Amino acid sequence: MSVPRIELRHVSKTFHHRRGKVDAPVEALRDVSLRVTPGEFVCLVGPSGCGKTTLLRLMDGLLEADAGQVLIDGSAHTGPGPHAGFVFQSFRLLPWRTVRDNVEFPLEIQKLPRGERRARAERYLRLVGLEGFEHSYPHALSGGMQQRVGLARALALEPGILLMDEPFAALDAQTREFMQIELSRIWASLGLTIVFVTHSLDEALFLGDRVVLIGPRPGSVQEIVEVPLPRPRWEYDARAAPVFIQLRAHLWERIREMVADQPEFRLAAAPG
Ligand SMILES: Nc1ncnc2c1ncn2[C@@H]1O[C@H](COP(=O)(O)OP(=O)(O)OP(=O)(O)O)[C@@H](O)[C@H]1O
Ligand SMILES: [Mg+2]
Repeated sequence: MSVPRIELRHVSKTFHHRRGKVDAPVEALRDVSLRVTPGEFVCLVGPSGCGKTTLLRLMDGLLEADAGQVLIDGSAHTGPGPHAGFVFQSFRLLPWRTVRDNVEFPLEIQKLPRGERRARAERYLRLVGLEGFEHSYPHALSGGMQQRVGLARALALEPGILLMDEPFAALDAQTREFMQIELSRIWASLGLTIVFVTHSLDEALFLGDRVVLIGPRPGSVQEIVEVPLPRPRWEYDARAAPVFIQLRAHLWERIREMVADQPEFRLAAAPG
């Protein structure tokens, strides 16, 4: 597995909605530059609609930038390729396929030989702790287990980059913390690059080497903070560390400023 370097250079993206006959453009991203080094864990945070998913889709090659460049190992990136695996918030498992066949599905599309598919599915299901569930169907698994299948499915492609779009948002708080530890462990053992979108500042600070704050309308990089907490972070109470608390307060304040003018985030006036 080679772990590529990803670079966005002055990337912009506008979507064109149609309202009746009128073109209503939505400028999702403007002039975004970001460099992700091989093996790094980068978290993207920012208010809803600021372009985080769009950024991941550009990195994956699912979308093309209007301006600027997406570079993988220094060369322009066109079309989805095997360099990146995607993990979604809604697990997107095929309900009629077993756990193992779900993990094998993208490998079938890649036309990997049967034996290799089987071997990879088994290897990555073991890595995410699902040994013994190969023949279960998704509906028989808990949410956390279903997302482990989603993770194994992405890892089985042996990508250098894992792009994760709010993968733990649908999980209960406890399962979510377990999954954060699991993911940190897997990331450390495989040495791949992860770009992880979350709305949770706690999650971003627990997982990330850096946290990139994206601001809305149009989306752009507002700030990048380094998280200087030693790893493994599950071996001590990282969330109680003073630097964690400081960074959390700082990012929260920045996000509050960003959404202050949006009605859905306005606080009601105190009664009386
Ligand atoms: N395929 C599309 N067609 C039209 N507009 C789109 C499309 N995808 C995204 N947009 C618009 O681009 C903007 C950014 O969307 P995006 O989904 O990237 O935001 P986000 O930060 O991931 O939001 P959330 O936190 O709610 O997931 C939004 O205004 C959205 O409506
Ligand atoms: Mg999104």
